[in-house]
Amino acid sequence: MSKSYDIPERVLERAYIKPGDYNELYEESISNPDKFWGRLAEEFISWEQKWDKVSDCDYSKAQVRWFEGAKLSVCYNCLDRHLETRGDKTAIIWEGNEPGEVKSYTYRDLHREVCRFANLLKAQGVKRGDRVAIYLPMIPELAISMLACARIGAIHSVIFGGFSADSIRDRILDSTCKLVITANQGLRANKKIPLKDTVDRAVDGLDCVEKVLVCRRTDADVTMKEGRDLWIEEQLQNMSAECPCEIMDAEDPLFILYTSGSTGKPKGVLHTQGGYLLYTSVTHKYVFDYHEEDVYFCAADIGWITGHSYIVYGPLCNGATTLMFESIPTYPDAGRYWDVVSRHKVNIFYTAPTAIRAIAKEGREYVDKYDLSSLRILGTVGEPINEDAWLWYYEVVGKKQCAIVDTWWQTETGGILITPLPGAIPTKPGSATKPFFGIKPCIVDSDGNRLEGNNVSGYLCIERSWPGQMRTVYGDHQRFFDTYFSQYPGLYFTGDAAMRDQDGYYWIRGRVDDVLNVSGHRLGTAEIESAIVHSGVVAEAAVVGMPHDIKGTGIYAYCVLKNKDSGDEEDLQKIKEAVREVIGPIATPDCIQFVPGLPKTRSGKIMRRILRKIARGDTEDLGDTTTLADPSVVDQIIAGSKTVKR
Ligand code: WT7
Repeated sequence: MSKSYDIPERVLERAYIKPGDYNELYEESISNPDKFWGRLAEEFISWEQKWDKVSDCDYSKAQVRWFEGAKLSVCYNCLDRHLETRGDKTAIIWEGNEPGEVKSYTYRDLHREVCRFANLLKAQGVKRGDRVAIYLPMIPELAISMLACARIGAIHSVIFGGFSADSIRDRILDSTCKLVITANQGLRANKKIPLKDTVDRAVDGLDCVEKVLVCRRTDADVTMKEGRDLWIEEQLQNMSAECPCEIMDAEDPLFILYTSGSTGKPKGVLHTQGGYLLYTSVTHKYVFDYHEEDVYFCAADIGWITGHSYIVYGPLCNGATTLMFESIPTYPDAGRYWDVVSRHKVNIFYTAPTAIRAIAKEGREYVDKYDLSSLRILGTVGEPINEDAWLWYYEVVGKKQCAIVDTWWQTETGGILITPLPGAIPTKPGSATKPFFGIKPCIVDSDGNRLEGNNVSGYLCIERSWPGQMRTVYGDHQRFFDTYFSQYPGLYFTGDAAMRDQDGYYWIRGRVDDVLNVSGHRLGTAEIESAIVHSGVVAEAAVVGMPHDIKGTGIYAYCVLKNKDSGDEEDLQKIKEAVREVIGPIATPDCIQFVPGLPKTRSGKIMRRILRKIARGDTEDLGDTTTLADPSVVDQIIAGSKTVKR
């Protein structure tokens, strides 16, 4: 077991939660959660009306409700209430694609822009409860349009800018969005991303979409469809900077965010107003030990939950200065994050292991060039962080003076569930350490027995609800129950395996279902397989994960071709192209092997266990293969795997 690291002095000095405080507060949060969350709800949120009951949850019905009867406006909490004391404080620092391309918004500026945008949405007929799809690059309008939706009670569905037209179309249809917000183009490093063209293909022929609003990010001309498409900048000129906040019920939907599971199409994860805002603001404050004067930089994309919770809602609810970054960690070179950190005097930085690995491999000279003395807290999220990457982050970036917070959570959980608290919990590289207040993790074996005590491994579940938990799968409550509550009655099943060590620390081992975590992006193997078959050249495909130095997990695809045994370069291209078309470039396989057949049991089930081992190059002991319908296919696959291009 790796060694544990003490809390750096400069973190300890100002931390809200000190070493002795954690156990006591945790016990309190677990023994009387309603009292605990009720107290924090008073402290963190301005309510229009108080709740009747703090929580009302029943996992046997997949029922999750918090603060019922209460009323609030999320937008008011993130903007209006700060105007008096923080009107001139910077709310958003935007760092564009080019280094030094900066725009700042004070809380007053942001409030004005959100009001105008909200009025624009209203003018286009968007009403409380309507769904609005947002397909934007990391520009301020992304945060502004989300908050504008919140202001008028519309439900936003942000779609990551790397998804294809087909993916956008599926998402728009699933939640019948009536309006789409996009940009003419996006900028990422040296590339221009044709967002509007992609949206045009996505919404072509869709009846539900009435309007497409377009931001001008570049000078590029795009075709604007008469009667449907409008330039945002032009429209905003006529909009008033006053717009009242729609007062919402605590359990009204705030947003939908699609995420991949082991089966079927991506699910629309639904989060609501009160509990979500409370959970993200409380965790933002304590996990990052956020103080009023801090500059906070979460390098995620708002297209994922990390950006929703920890770029937009959590920080703004706390009146923080949050930095939005449009570019990528290696543009123009591997020092970009540190360039941003030193120029903006960032105190809290939050990124993913895949980004750390990608820049660490370029050498420490890219870090050493910059003054990083402002940094105090370094966060990571998205996948297990390997010890090397952790140590590099701690030593090279943090100079052993910053706390590392390895935060485990999911789109479904809304906010961070297992994490060190910087001033209270000594860290161990690779462990997400301890549960946050109010969170009761448990580890179960495959029969669902709870494994008590320490030094146990198994499936990670959470025993009871917390305010940030998702409320349903949009339009399919049964799927919500089936996916998370049916395996182990009375528990929320996370889909991850975990170990609890002798000190009660949690070590997340990764997914146990058919979900891959590629560069921290979540993809279902079934989705990728179906995209591959869509290429037309493949009869059947099986996709598994394989170890990848930078991405953590790479995509390995076994493909049975139609009518022939061996494929050529053209087939490879067709397969990759199909995946990009159907899902997006993030799902492109790293390795494609043409195989004569897939290893199936006599009942026709693919034995993925074997395929995972072969993809790992671990072909010595494949375990029991006696139930295979045709064991000889395995030898052929092994032989082929040795020559395949990796
Ligand atoms: C899955 C959730 C939550 C924002 C980003 C991902 C993996 C996440 C960690 C971590 C080990 C992690 C899990 C989880 N994961 N954070 N600190 N250590 N694994 O959200 O796309 O919903 O993916 O990411 O496997 O189930 P997501």
